[in-house]
Amino acid sequence: MSLAQRRILLGVSGGIAAYKSCDLVRRLRGLGAEVRVVMTENATRFVGPATFQALSGEPVRISLWDDSAEAAMGHIELARWAERILIAPASAELLARLAHGHANDLLSTLCLASAAPLHVAPAMNQQMWAHPAVQANLQTLRQRGVLVWGPAVGEQACGDVGSGRMLEPEALRDAMVASFGGGMLDGLRVLISAGPTYEDIDPVRFIGNRSSGRMGFALAEAAALEGAQVTLVAGPVGLPTPAGVGVRVDVRSAAQMHAAVLNAAAEADIYIGTAAVGDYRPAEVAKRKVKKQAGADLVLQLAENPDILASLSAQAAHPFLVGFAAETHDVLIYAHEKLQRKGLDMIAANQVGEGLGFEASENALSVVWDGGSIDLARASKSVLARQLVGIVAERFRAARP
Ligand code: C5P
Repeated sequence: MSLAQRRILLGVSGGIAAYKSCDLVRRLRGLGAEVRVVMTENATRFVGPATFQALSGEPVRISLWDDSAEAAMGHIELARWAERILIAPASAELLARLAHGHANDLLSTLCLASAAPLHVAPAMNQQMWAHPAVQANLQTLRQRGVLVWGPAVGEQACGDVGSGRMLEPEALRDAMVASFGGGMLDGLRVLISAGPTYEDIDPVRFIGNRSSGRMGFALAEAAALEGAQVTLVAGPVGLPTPAGVGVRVDVRSAAQMHAAVLNAAAEADIYIGTAAVGDYRPAEVAKRKVKKQAGADLVLQLAENPDILASLSAQAAHPFLVGFAAETHDVLIYAHEKLQRKGLDMIAANQVGEGLGFEASENALSVVWDGGSIDLARASKSVLARQLVGIVAERFRAARP
């Protein structure tokens, strides 16, 4: 990994996560990047400019009206100098100003004056993050091509737990490296489905499964780090969008997932189906809550859901298809059978149970394709995801040179 001679403008806005950005400067410089820091007035309440100045080895800019700084490198020059602008932390206030095109301080002015790709790493209280106003601003920024990295879920400085923590400096550094290319999936469009599906019985009940979505989300992150343009179709999960994922589509049922995946597949080079799609759905969804009839059993009629992978492989032109097979026994036998039956290019099979697979943070995979296989030993899902993405990239290039 290298960022040698890359010119990165780091914008720091007002939030307690600003202290983590000190480490981020060190990590970016550690890979050879030139980093210049621009702070908002509010950011200086959390970390002193002298700290960033010492870490970046460059003067820190705060105001548009600093004559000596403008004489050294004017703000337009600074905007042109930057190859990337990363705002970390990006506060709700700064995101709002960016969404509305304000230019009322140096940092927001630079964002308008620069042609460099803009990346933001939001950090705020979980309630603020969930606010429709914040989400609407992010939507606007995303539509303009701004890449939103994070936030992560976890404990917050204010004591809350939820989504809104700034991504760790290491993850931001890796995403920055990936943004300059050189990855195994550079220029490829990867579509990933993740999580369970919920099949409604009535307005309050559904049939679901225990998939957490973590394997698919880890794969989405790993694929983005290898330079892919990633679209993530997610069933009902409480997971934040990983850094670098371009588009996320949230769905609930297998039918919705089927539609979303088929819709996006025309634009994809690779489809990885990690989702645990419900095989059946209630034949009819009751409009009103089904009432309990004491002393009588209830029979639920189920209708078969369409198989997403099989629908794709039946199409004349389709992406490179990677399936998953979670089994409790005879894993490899079922994997080979599924590879053939669904017309897949590759399948990743795992045994569920004993702290592995569904709901667990670790997994172990056997990856099988026509003419080969490889076992990936037990590891965290993020480690496995990086390994699997490497194999997918290799097999894709072999199958479609
Ligand atoms: O046959 P089984 O459901 O075990 O196969 C699992 C694989 O098939 C996963 O990759 C899953 O995403 C995919 N699948 C699908 N559509 C379904 C059911 C499963 O694409 N309706």
